[in-house]
Amino acid sequence: MNIVVLAGGMSSEREVSLSSGTMVTNALRRAGHRAVLVDSFLGLDIPGEVMDVFNVEGEMEAVRVEEQAPDLEKVKAARGDSGFGTVGENVIEVCRAADIVYMGLHGEDGENGRMQAFFDVLGIKYTGAGYLGSALAMHKGISKQMVAGILKTAQSKVFRKGGDMDGIEEIGFPCIVKPCCGGSSIGIAKAGDQRELERALADAFRCEDEIMVEQFITGREFSVGVLGGVALPPIEIIPRGGFYDYAHKYQAGWTEEVCPAAIDGKTEQAMQDMAREACRLLRLEVYARGEFILTEDGELYFLEMNTLPGMTPTSLLPQEAAAAGLSYEQLCERIIELSLE
Ligand code: DAL
Ligand code: MG
Repeated sequence: MNIVVLAGGMSSEREVSLSSGTMVTNALRRAGHRAVLVDSFLGLDIPGEVMDVFNVEGEMEAVRVEEQAPDLEKVKAARGDSGFGTVGENVIEVCRAADIVYMGLHGEDGENGRMQAFFDVLGIKYTGAGYLGSALAMHKGISKQMVAGILKTAQSKVFRKGGDMDGIEEIGFPCIVKPCCGGSSIGIAKAGDQRELERALADAFRCEDEIMVEQFITGREFSVGVLGGVALPPIEIIPRGGFYDYAHKYQAGWTEEVCPAAIDGKTEQAMQDMAREACRLLRLEVYARGEFILTEDGELYFLEMNTLPGMTPTSLLPQEAAAAGLSYEQLCERIIELSLE
């Protein structure tokens, strides 16, 4: 198959996405596909690499690349945001020539449904959730409302920058402050008292205009991937010191990941059922990865679904797939197969 792996973009998870995209591209090539890595923001010129890309007839051709990494902020300012301004101009033609676009993007446009809707209009096939599921799952406050009354969630409130903060005291301490549409824990902080809360709010509002303050649930943290309606073995995440923040997610060795997790069969089943139910409620048919907390007294809380889970060397979904007997290559191919159904 001719596959464009779309990665990079302009979100705060750009580097994570380039790591996922590179891994996926290499895996698809090992599996015998013609896969090319395309930076959705910069277009075809990913700095420092000689790339081969598809031309509009679907033939491979070499493309000149820039010697120096461009100044992303300058490119963004020059391009502006004219609706789909975060998509590099030459990207669409290349995507059209492919059999499918593998969405290797994380965060903002690319994960929030905007790019998916754009591709739907253009008739371009892509991997993963459609625009509606992507949009619903992207916003932590909206996705919690969608599952409310069905899945157990921690008490939380959403606040807007400059708006009133009424009701924030009802959450209590410790609490956790999250940008509503963030990823990879960027801008997330735990607060144990008023001073820490104020600092956490200021940091989160620097990332986004909408943030969520959530009761902090003490317990073990798990992640469960769902692939085509089938839940994968849960993985337990045990950060070595601190919490599962950006560094603990992507620095090898900073987090212990246990997969399959050391939990009894009933708890495993409950977690997998919850992950599948969250996919159903949030319209995530192809694949997604959920996050859960299990308290000491066995209560299971749903935190969120990730519609474009990381595929980096330290990411969780490939480890869960491996525990289910799927290699990295097979996981990528299965995602493509399900997306084309
Ligand atoms: N947002 C990151 C990539 C994840 O969910 O894995
Ligand atoms: Mg997430």
